[in-house]
Amino acid sequence: MPKWLKNAVFYEIYPQSFQDTNGDGIGDFQGIIDRLDYIKELGCNAIWMNPCFDSPFTDAGYDVRDYYMAAPRYGTNEDLKRLFDEVHKRGMHLILDLVPGHTSIDCKWFQESMKAEENVYSHRYIWSDSIWEGFEGINNITGSIRGISDRNGSCATNFFSTQPALNYGFAKPSKPWQSAADSQEAMATRQAMKDIMAFWLGLGCDGFRVDMAASLVKGDEDGKANIALWNDIRAFLDEQFPEAAIVSEWGQPDQSLKGGFHMDFLLHFGPSRYLDLFRTEHPYFSREGKGNIKAFTDKYQEYVDSTNGKGLICIPSSNHDMPRLGGLLDEEEIKLVFAFLMSMPGAPFVYYGDEIGMRYQKDLRSVEGGFDRTGTRTPMQWNSGVNAGFSSAAPERLYISIDPDPNRPTVEAQMHTEGSLWKEVQKLIVLRMEHPALQSSAPVRFLYAQEHAYPFVYIREQEEEKILVLINPSSKDASCNIEITDNGQVLYSNHGTAFCENGTWNVPAESATFIRL
Ligand code: GLC
Ligand code: CA
Repeated sequence: MPKWLKNAVFYEIYPQSFQDTNGDGIGDFQGIIDRLDYIKELGCNAIWMNPCFDSPFTDAGYDVRDYYMAAPRYGTNEDLKRLFDEVHKRGMHLILDLVPGHTSIDCKWFQESMKAEENVYSHRYIWSDSIWEGFEGINNITGSIRGISDRNGSCATNFFSTQPALNYGFAKPSKPWQSAADSQEAMATRQAMKDIMAFWLGLGCDGFRVDMAASLVKGDEDGKANIALWNDIRAFLDEQFPEAAIVSEWGQPDQSLKGGFHMDFLLHFGPSRYLDLFRTEHPYFSREGKGNIKAFTDKYQEYVDSTNGKGLICIPSSNHDMPRLGGLLDEEEIKLVFAFLMSMPGAPFVYYGDEIGMRYQKDLRSVEGGFDRTGTRTPMQWNSGVNAGFSSAAPERLYISIDPDPNRPTVEAQMHTEGSLWKEVQKLIVLRMEHPALQSSAPVRFLYAQEHAYPFVYIREQEEEKILVLINPSSKDASCNIEITDNGQVLYSNHGTAFCENGTWNVPAESATFIRL
């Protein structure tokens, strides 16, 4: 495990919407460079940046045209290298977004692959051998592209119809046109992806968030073929880039961490019960107090037991694919969300703007394949200036329109207000950095996580240090009995302080307390 992951707290940047510096209405690398000190002041020491490569942007850059070239709208490869250098100067790390499963239909590889004449790219993608044969019912294939080439065959897609699936083979090939996962053509695709990783790592990035990591080998019901593939890529990294980190968009740490990923996310899809926390009809972190934490902790415990301390299970505040916390929960509720995120194992991921409670914008017209995700990708709200300080362009030229609410939260206001959400997030990150027991690899033990009940109590332990965390998001005081009855030293409390009396813990309504035992 790269050493820097030990206390990494990530900040996710959607480059389009973070900071525009040349007035074209879209964020750029220079804008990110200009805001690095801000990210550092918040306390984050690592960055995940969404795809920034040359692309026609039918899916916001998850449709890569040229893996070796930065998208001109963000800057040049030189500018990107400068961003890596500026990040490192500040003792921070930056991971890029690798999209290994599919390219854009405009990618040169695909243009070549469509040709009727056999060439080196003919098997770079998954093609059936007849235009009339598709991929119905095959796991990890969403649809097909057909009728746009002279080549006789259908090409599998991975996500949108503009995203042809690269060929990493099939777990159990059953047709002549299905390659095996270790066939020459599937290995050629794998090698091409390793070359791309080596190129950017060589230029100075610190690793990758890997898009749809579980989907490369097709028809892989139990995930074993993809696990094998990623173990091979991990071995390549260990040998050549041992400080490079990889985090998967997989959502099943029991599989991904066995596949050699250093980290996996809990996500809004998959079996993790992540949605129970903040995004279900009755979220656990809502003050209405009707949530259920137990299904989440049961599943989490299962992941911990099956991975046996190998790799990190990461919990994001939101990401560019799901509704923001702001809009679902209010600022006071979100403070408790961050108390939870910053006291759990794994590397926490803060989605840009969540630190001020930026709100999900409903009913926006889709931008670059965002559809209902567009409302989560609006420009960062820096200050009370023009376009909230995001850009000097005319408002109608902005990538996505800004939250129109005159009372929209801004960084500037919250950084100068005692008791703001921003200040609370900063305080929590500082605390995490000061206490190894709160960091990535210190184990967690759930002490009170009952069906439809409050509070939620767990302990983090690392060598000599033990920290008890008691959180009660509900609007009613709550109590519980656990094996620990020592009042210890209060390290942090928000909205009241939990205390133990006659063997019972009393946890005030809407509060969070961290106690060193
Ligand atoms: C991932 C990305 C999402 C993208 C999709 C296709 O889920 O997070 O934004 O649309 O993959 O690449
Ligand atoms: Ca710009």
